[in-house]
Amino acid sequence: MLHRMGLLARLALSTLGLHFASLHLVDASAVQAPLGVSAPSKRIAIVGAGTGGVGALKALIGDLPEEARQGWEIVLFEQRRDVGGIWLPDPNPPNPPELPETPLYPRLLTNTPHPTMTLPNFPFRPGTPLYPRHPAVQQYHRDIVEHWNLSSYIKFNHEVLETRWRGTSEAGRWQVAVRDRLQNETSVSQFDHLIVASGHNHYPFEPIIPGRDLWEAGAPNRKTLHSIYYRQPQDYAGRNVVVVGGGASTRDIAQQIAPLTNSTYVSLKPATIKKPALPFPPMPGTENKPRISHFTSNSIVFTDNTTLTHIDTIVWGTGYELRIPFLTAGGHLDIVPTQTDQDEHLSTNLRRVHPVYQHVLSLDTAYPVGALYFIGLPIFVSNAISDAAQGLFAAYTLAYPELLDSRGELYADLLADETRLRADGYDCAYIGHRIPGDGGGTRYQDGLVEYLQARGLGGHPGVPRGRKFTEQWRVFGVDYITSLKKGWVRIESRGEEYVREWLDGVETEEQWADLMERLVKWEREQEEEEGSYDPLAYTGPEP
Ligand SMILES: Cc1cc2nc3c(=O)[nH]c(=O)nc-3n(C[C@H](O)[C@H](O)[C@H](O)COP(=O)(O)OP(=O)(O)OC[C@H]3O[C@@H](n4cnc5c(N)ncnc54)[C@H](O)[C@@H]3O)c2cc1C
Ligand SMILES: *[C@@H]1O[C@H](CO)[C@@H](O)[C@H](O)[C@H]1NC(C)=O
Ligand SMILES: *[C@@H]1O[C@H](CO)[C@@H](O)[C@H](O)[C@H]1NC(C)=O
Ligand SMILES: *[C@@H]1O[C@H](CO)[C@@H](O)[C@H](O)[C@H]1NC(C)=O
Ligand SMILES: *[C@@H]1O[C@H](CO)[C@@H](O)[C@H](O)[C@H]1NC(C)=O
Repeated sequence: MLHRMGLLARLALSTLGLHFASLHLVDASAVQAPLGVSAPSKRIAIVGAGTGGVGALKALIGDLPEEARQGWEIVLFEQRRDVGGIWLPDPNPPNPPELPETPLYPRLLTNTPHPTMTLPNFPFRPGTPLYPRHPAVQQYHRDIVEHWNLSSYIKFNHEVLETRWRGTSEAGRWQVAVRDRLQNETSVSQFDHLIVASGHNHYPFEPIIPGRDLWEAGAPNRKTLHSIYYRQPQDYAGRNVVVVGGGASTRDIAQQIAPLTNSTYVSLKPATIKKPALPFPPMPGTENKPRISHFTSNSIVFTDNTTLTHIDTIVWGTGYELRIPFLTAGGHLDIVPTQTDQDEHLSTNLRRVHPVYQHVLSLDTAYPVGALYFIGLPIFVSNAISDAAQGLFAAYTLAYPELLDSRGELYADLLADETRLRADGYDCAYIGHRIPGDGGGTRYQDGLVEYLQARGLGGHPGVPRGRKFTEQWRVFGVDYITSLKKGWVRIESRGEEYVREWLDGVETEEQWADLMERLVKWEREQEEEEGSYDPLAYTGPEP
């Protein structure tokens, strides 16, 4: 038996295409279990210890009852030294074209109030400012691990290189090649299920615009770089910069550098994805421009035919490509521009992985439904709570596979969702995992949990009975995002003492929810008093 396993493993390895001198095998099934201890009934690998991976692990260990996961072996592989994902700083300055491990820059604050960035009933630490600097968010991930005692499941400094299904559409196992970064050793182990939470802010996307090479070569001091490399505003002192893109962190970068540059322009494309059109007045010290049409050797030409000739720096805040290299290396994620309604195998068009049921469950016919889950694909959602819903879906369908409808039914549901989106004017291949529409994120995560509720799981740990998954106060926090931010900025401008007064005694989730409600009312009163109150700026219903 032992001999046979060894042979199988060696055979498999030879087709892996890995050429590491220090390759050694870890195959738990080949190791003789001590008498009386049975081999694990399921082996589950999670990739990534950002919000998504930690959220999935918490669902498996913190929510799923112990008897439902008896004998499971769960390993979370994280290539970096700690939890937090993008919120964990990279101590080394970026060195293009090498990709940094995170787009995080030292002055990054959250752009959402932290109570909306939590798992259910587990708020940030007391005293955390409503829009904290990044270390509070990383600490929050550590606190999750400590609270639910998750650290023994996590292997840090372990990079997943390749995942390959060994089996059929009915049965088999994942063969997972992992490199221990500290030892520089690669090993291969077997898992029944794979949960991918590797994030989508890691592979920069830069648009192809005619003439760019000409422009770059046109003068020695010109440089262009993607926002993933942005760190310090001082690097832009005295320069003439075009920041391309209108996302939250891109706007933040423009705002940070504007006081130090000689000139800063923000190039915005017209909204192509249907979403509430946010008016973007130019930020102080910056000027808005439309999209770049093309370059010449001495100028940047915009789509309104205006040109700029004095620019020396371009920051591409143009987002990221959705790549999952270890799936691609294993032959399980083709990169294709055109996806179809008949796709049998998983592919990415760099914006969308397809076919994936509800952004969480791969429907690839190479392996059984339930072999591959994704956590954290959705965009335009509050991540942690969406990850929590996905985690519950994964945990309970892993424990009770009979809850999963057939591949055919799930595929039909996926196509029905896409048909609905198309009827609303969305291009599904383009919007990818962006969840559109007012309240879309809430409906999405509620829907995932409703899947479990409809199958009798209401009242099981983590799955509410008789109510929606998303708490009402979270909806409030998203609806009033603009006035919450304005209110909090106003409070911080009045000094630390004032901030402390607001945070004093706020500890529980309920108290944070109450603080957000008080803040919206207070901000409105302030604005009414100073005569600046604009009812249209209030995105939600009456507070
Ligand atoms: C600059 C910036 C600011 C943001 N600000 C906010 C905000 O204010 N509010 C908000 O709600 N959201 C914000 N977001 C969105 C943010 O991405 C999510 O909130 C969330 O942190 C994503 O978590 P994740 O786990 O999905 O991915 P990530 O944080 O990217 O985590 C993925 C993890 O997987 C690991 N990994 C990847 N590949 C491998 C491999 N092969 N082997 C082992 N490990 C691997 C990575 O090292 C990483 O730790 C921001 C994003 C960016 C880029
Ligand atoms: C890691 O090991 C591989 C294969 O043995 C070798 O090629 C590579 O140079 C090593 N890397 C480091 C950083 O030691
Ligand atoms: C935490 O995990 C350790 C190691 O697995 C275990 O010994 C300990 O009992 C756990 N503690 C709790 C509170 O679950
Ligand atoms: C500074 O910016 C202005 C445009 O605001 C531009 O005309 C001028 O050439 C720039 N000066 C330098 C030294 O870059
Ligand atoms: C820009 O210039 C081109 C070529 O001269 C012209 O065809 C086009 O209509 C102009 N566009 C605008 C917005 O002025």
